[in-house]
Amino acid sequence: MERTFVMVKPDGVQRGLVGEVIRRLERKGLKIVGLKMIWIQEELAMEHYSEHVEKPFFRSLVDYITSGPVVAMVVEGKDAVKVVRNIVGATNPAEALPGTIRGDFGLDIGRNVVHASDSLKSAEREISLFFDAEELLDYTRANEEWIYE
Ligand code: RTP
Ligand code: MG
Repeated sequence: MERTFVMVKPDGVQRGLVGEVIRRLERKGLKIVGLKMIWIQEELAMEHYSEHVEKPFFRSLVDYITSGPVVAMVVEGKDAVKVVRNIVGATNPAEALPGTIRGDFGLDIGRNVVHASDSLKSAEREISLFFDAEELLDYTRANEEWIYE
């Protein structure tokens, strides 16, 4: 089992897409093990996106992600990192395939609705950035034997 970090970005919250994003993750069989709404402050935003600090879009990216509340979550499942990236779709919503979240709900790369970790290493880093260990819950869902062989 893997855990990955997912976030409904400020545009997703403002557009009322929190439920839509969660619905798509849950119906796939993924399990939410941590969930909260926060308003990211500048320092956390810069840390979260530190890999992009030299990019020309860094300032606008930090402004975007701090522009309103986000919904942060940790999602668990088999191959969760890859599976969630596939559900989210390509970075640029104009190029993301229909059927993906970005493909269905966006047009602009600077308003792409959702974030998902791009590797297991990023997932571990981002989860620890946004969640304390005791905020992540271990539990079994009643349907698990119908999702996993
Ligand atoms: P994310 O980290 O938000 O899940 O997105 P991602 O992995 O698909 O894309 P990444 O390369 O990590 O870029 C992070 C976010 O920066 C914005 N961006 N703008 N103007 C641009 O060329 C540009 N490139 C990236 C996007 O909001 C992207 O999600
Ligand atoms: Mg990324």
